[in-house]
Amino acid sequence: MALDLTELIDKLPPLKIPYLHSNETIGIDLGSSSIKIAQLKKAKEGNLELVRWAILPLSQPGEGEKVELNPEEKKAFAIQSLKSYRGSGKKIPKNACTAVAGTSIIVRYVKFPKIVPKEFIKNIKKEAESYIPFNIEEVYLTYFPLRNIQEDGKELTETVLVAAKKDFINQKIEILESSGFKASVVDIDAFALEAIYTLTQDKTPIEEIVLVSNIGHQKTNFVIIEKGVSVVVKDSPISGNSIEKLIMKNLLVDSKVAEKLKLAHGLMLNTEEKEAAGKEGQTVSDAILMTMKDFISETKKIIQYYATQAKDKKINRLLIAGGTSNIKNLANYLSAELNLPVEKLNPLKMISGAQAVPEDAQTTLSIALGLALRKSGDIKL
Ligand SMILES: Nc1ncnc2c1ncn2[C@@H]1O[C@H](COP(=O)(O)OP(=O)(O)OP(=O)(O)O)[C@@H](O)[C@H]1O
Ligand SMILES: [Mg+2]
Repeated sequence: MALDLTELIDKLPPLKIPYLHSNETIGIDLGSSSIKIAQLKKAKEGNLELVRWAILPLSQPGEGEKVELNPEEKKAFAIQSLKSYRGSGKKIPKNACTAVAGTSIIVRYVKFPKIVPKEFIKNIKKEAESYIPFNIEEVYLTYFPLRNIQEDGKELTETVLVAAKKDFINQKIEILESSGFKASVVDIDAFALEAIYTLTQDKTPIEEIVLVSNIGHQKTNFVIIEKGVSVVVKDSPISGNSIEKLIMKNLLVDSKVAEKLKLAHGLMLNTEEKEAAGKEGQTVSDAILMTMKDFISETKKIIQYYATQAKDKKINRLLIAGGTSNIKNLANYLSAELNLPVEKLNPLKMISGAQAVPEDAQTTLSIALGLALRKSGDIKL
């Protein structure tokens, strides 16, 4: 499924986004710890090739305590980084595809009476109002019709309804436009993950049901993808930052040291590893374990929710993505706790020219790569 909030922003006043005619696009994932960038092109053999990629950190490198930037400073820093990135290379496309997630976004699966797209768009505020817990005037709305069904003699359309707070979206657009890009697609993190997951599947049609968890710095995106279509979407604040906070508290260190320790150690699963890691390593491992206990209970809740919705259907595996999925031993640990096969998503599996991307960066680029698959105007509602 692909969504573009700008499709409707364009139709709903007051915001207009001028489209450029070039159809080259670049995926820009505006994360809280770094900006991820990816551009793809179709190679001669029809395969996809990685043209460029980057991870631009959103904190000052160097010695001293890591200063947490406030949202305004972070925005200015992001604009500065993106601007200098744009200035650093020729032929960097202007058209950027980005995505949003978190508490300013609502994704609902709703069965509406059979949808006639032109009519539905006209009345979308009225149709959506009862499903959206925000003031309808303060959100951008869009939808994606999944399929038409018959239920109790009625013709219905299973629909993904999305509402996103205008000020949140406008902030993201402002970052891109102040850096010289054009926001040509605004998608949802979960659907960008669906896009890149789908690309990694060599068997079509996709038969499996998979839970993808993109574990970032301030949030985790969960999406259940059933035969290639997202059916459950949820975000949670359990993430890399939760681990750092525990390390800070337990070892009485500042955030920069906590981050270094987190990156240096992983999860210790056996006595030998624990002994080799020493006291400090064990404290880090314990902080990871505590955070992962929360992650596991969140994951179980999502699996449980799906089980009540989709009787007889079973999630076949969990794919972890995002920077925090790089924690050593994480997949093995989660697999044992959840009693489910767990693997790290390799978003570059079907993309050539990706040899230069270091192992840890690969899965961090998942959303940016999903976005790099998008084109302005590729959805016709
Ligand atoms: N090898 C590693 N071990 C442990 N944590 C790691 C490793 N590599 C990266 N991380 C952590 O991953 C997080 C960054 O991941 P990511 O880039 O996916 O987040 P983000 O997109 O910036 O944040 P968000 O999406 O939550 O706004 C940081 O907390 C970072 O410390
Ligand atoms: Mg992220």
